[in-house]
Amino acid sequence: MPSATFHFPKGFLWGTATASHQVEGRNTNNNWYKWEQEGHTTHKSGNASDWWGGRWKEDFDRAAETSQNAHRLSVEWSRIQPAPDRWDEDALERYRSMLRGLRDRGITPMVTLHHFTDPLWLGVLGGWETQAVVPLFEKYARKVVGALKEYCTLWCTINEPNVYALEGYLRGNFPPGKSDLKLSLVVQSNMARAHAAAYRLIHELQPESRVGYALHFRPQESFRPWFPLDRLMRNIKFEAINMAFPSAISTGIMRSPVGRIQVPEVKGTQDFMGLNYYSVDTVAFDLRIPQELFSHSFFPEGSDLADAGMNSNTPEGFFWAIKWAVRTYPALPIIITENGIEDITDRIRPRYLAEHVHAMWRAVNFNWPVKGYFHWSLVDNFEWERGWTQRFGLWAIDIETQKRTRRPSADLYAAICKENGLSSAMVEKYCPEVFEKLFPG
Ligand code: BGC
Repeated sequence: MPSATFHFPKGFLWGTATASHQVEGRNTNNNWYKWEQEGHTTHKSGNASDWWGGRWKEDFDRAAETSQNAHRLSVEWSRIQPAPDRWDEDALERYRSMLRGLRDRGITPMVTLHHFTDPLWLGVLGGWETQAVVPLFEKYARKVVGALKEYCTLWCTINEPNVYALEGYLRGNFPPGKSDLKLSLVVQSNMARAHAAAYRLIHELQPESRVGYALHFRPQESFRPWFPLDRLMRNIKFEAINMAFPSAISTGIMRSPVGRIQVPEVKGTQDFMGLNYYSVDTVAFDLRIPQELFSHSFFPEGSDLADAGMNSNTPEGFFWAIKWAVRTYPALPIIITENGIEDITDRIRPRYLAEHVHAMWRAVNFNWPVKGYFHWSLVDNFEWERGWTQRFGLWAIDIETQKRTRRPSADLYAAICKENGLSSAMVEKYCPEVFEKLFPG
């Protein structure tokens, strides 16, 4: 049996990612709380992973004890600015302690300013549907960065603007539950403008900062490559899902299959490419589903699926995603801002993790500038419309008791972080079923 270790460059960031509404609990002043109360979700977030109750401390201990050197968290706009004319200094102080808590444990923070949730008052003012949001987000960002910059230089302005816009304005799974493709593009254009404003002000407040956003990048494949309508739909879907923000950043024109919007101020506003990668979609033409852009996306038979069937283990797609980022932005560092899989029993996660780290290592060996990896997620947390049905944590949480249980993947990830690499011994121990594939002898 071959024995080898795939090492990463010195200083590589190894961490986990979380988001305020998913872990904090008792967030009652945002659009998701309202959405949950209205019955749109399988469960309610409730106490979530109880970070607002103080459990962030024990969870950061877990991250540190397992050799993680970075953590990506988000701050909650509705807590920091509970009303347009009011700041909650205690909430900001709480976030300052959390970031200090990371620093004290030798963990580099990345702070996300917006991860899907909006203050209720913003919704009343039209949310992201009008450009009025831009100065409001800028004001909020200025306040947050001013308060937290002592502890953080890595900033992610907005998480997955494409998912926010498509789920909230096309599929209806996220608030406000509308179905209007054109409006979803307008929403993304306003998010891009707000991102650009935040990018500039963060640099003004902190010249050494590194600022980006996190793109949910979803590779698309045609089901029948010989069938022109599958290919067409694959291309449309690829553009619609992935390309709005990147086109705006590359050219100052936001492009989508339903139109173009001029956003010249957005051009060039990122210091790193933040990539969230989960799975690949296979696309087949289907006239019956306009809300899915006339095509059906699925995982082909034989896919290595998690129990809930929401993601498949497709590491080639991860390699492809990184390659896309390098080709699109040759001069920019890449940070994997999320990657993970729902898996309550930890049946598939060890091999998902090992195979994705391996794909990333291949990318690094082409000298592609991948600088860090944040696994989603540190602990189980509130999974949006799917409530508690899907568990992404390296640690399981019993929601009734808040008791944490370490999944085997936490040990595998700890070994990877400690070694700054993936070894044959790790694969043999945690996921021997992919040994031959990763270490062909
Ligand atoms: C989101 C997370 C979410 C994860 C798993 C990402 O699209 O940023 O908030 O929990 O996917 O579904």
